[in-house]
Order: sequence, then C-alpha cells, then structure tokens
Amino acid sequence: MRLKDLLKNILTKEELEIAPSGFDMIGDLAIIKLNEELKRKERKIAEQLLKLKQIKTVLKKEGKVENEFRVRKYKVIGGENTKETLHIEFGCRYKLNIETAYFSPRLGNERERITNQIKDGEKILVMFAGIGPYAIQIAKYRNVDIWGVEINPEGIKYFRENAKLNKVEKKIKIFEGDVRKIVSRWEDKFDQIIMPLPKDAETFLDVAKKVSKKNTIIHLYMFADSKEEAIEKISYDIEVVDCVECGGYSKSTSRYCIDFRFK
Ligand SMILES: C[S@@+](CC[C@H](N)C(=O)[O-])C[C@H]1O[C@@H](n2cnc3c(N)ncnc32)[C@H](O)[C@@H]1O
Repeated sequence: MRLKDLLKNILTKEELEIAPSGFDMIGDLAIIKLNEELKRKERKIAEQLLKLKQIKTVLKKEGKVENEFRVRKYKVIGGENTKETLHIEFGCRYKLNIETAYFSPRLGNERERITNQIKDGEKILVMFAGIGPYAIQIAKYRNVDIWGVEINPEGIKYFRENAKLNKVEKKIKIFEGDVRKIVSRWEDKFDQIIMPLPKDAETFLDVAKKVSKKNTIIHLYMFADSKEEAIEKISYDIEVVDCVECGGYSKSTSRYCIDFRFK
C-alpha cells in the first residue's frame, strides 16, 4: 500500500502534498522523514503506520548525517520506545541501534552484488565495516578469510555480536580503530577490498594500494553527479571493471560503486 493512501484520511490535501511517498523498514522499525509543517500530525501519522502488522516502532529522522560515524538522531513518534532492532537481509541477521551505528537497508541489493563477485579462497578486506553487513554476508555464503575495520565502538560491539549471531565469527577478523592507522601497518595483501564510505573513501586509496596485489579488485563507494564524475574523481591510474549507481543521495547526487584495479 502506498504511504499516501494510508495517510489520506488523517491529512488535508495540502498536507498530503508535502507528506513523504515512502518510508524505510529496518527490522520492526519504520523510519520516516517528515516536513517540519507536519510536526503537529506526527503522532497521527505514526498511529496509521502502526496499523501495519510488521511495525512495532515509528521513528522520525532528525538532523543530518555529518559526523565521522555517519549516524543521525531519531525521535520515537509512536509504538515501543526503542531504537534497537533485528534486521534480516539475504538470510543474515543484524542486531543494531539505528542511532548509535550506521546501517542502511537500501544497500541490501548492493551487498548481494558484491558477494556475487567474491570467490572461495579469497582474502577480503572490508574497510569502514559498520555493524558488519558486507563482511557477514560474504562470510556466510563464501569460504573466505575476511578482515573488517571500523572506528565506531558501538559499530564494533554490534559487528562482533552479529558475527556470532550468524555463526561466522571464526571466518572474520575484526579490528577497532581508524583504517589509516590500522591497515597502514599491515604487510598482508588482499584479493578484494571493499570501501563503503561514500563521503570520502577515495582519500584512503593510498592505504588500499599498499595492501593490494597486481589484480586486486577495489570496490569504492562515492557520492557523485554521474558515473563519469565518479570515475574522474579517482586520482590514480586505474582499470575500471564496472561502475554502478546504487542509490540516491540528494536531488542531483547519487551513490556510485566503482569496481577497479590499480594499473
Ligand atoms: C557509510 S557507513 C558504512 C557501514 C557499513 N559498511 C554498512 O554498509 O552498513 C561508514 C562507516 O565507516 C566508519 N568510519 C568512518 N571513518 C572511519 C575510519 N577512518 N576508519 C574506520 N572506520 C571509519 C563509520 O563509523 C561508519 O560505520
């Protein structure tokens, strides 16, 4: 059912025009972005959403994602007073608190696209690993040695818990701290390196190069206005394997993943 259909009995025609056309589901949490003018109707909007049986809590996005941990504030506008949930994606289970560590359900298909490119026996590095969704999905479906690095202690807490929850903790080495400091010290080389920090992952390419071998594939995420702009922003001599758009960011900007090798 379309969100606007669900809200049409409680909002005026003018309010419906500024109401969002959809919402995100993370586990049993419904996440909605509301125009300031709909503030006085937020409880009523939440009540409508709570009629859908899979929703236990309705949260409203507050503020922007501007910090290093890539998290934002949320306000509970209906249902149980919680920001923690269990999200299921491609057969993997992720426990998380949406306010303390980053997670986006919109990247589910992208994670599957990356998993499909990983072969048994490979050694994989996931920089900026968050609560572990890339590392855990890959470890669940491939026989790999996989290392993950994350700076947010809350992200690390859930990453460790989620690895156990999915019974892949023996396949994943988890490192807490700054990618630059941690990875720069390593002599290890990886077959594929995933860099899911679209805000500025490209500034860590020197670190990725250090732990790459001749044919290592890098999966670099970036915000850009077009595929061409995303590729041009990479200041290294590279061979592009693929470049896909994987989600919107603002009206003109999207998230891209560039799969490439260093030349
Ligand atoms: C966009 S989130 C992606 C998280 C996860 N890969 C996912 O897809 O859900 C980027 C993550 O990078 C982490 N991060 C930011 N700067 C970092 C750094 N210098 N070293 C390690 N992790 C970092 C943030 O805390 C955040 O969890």
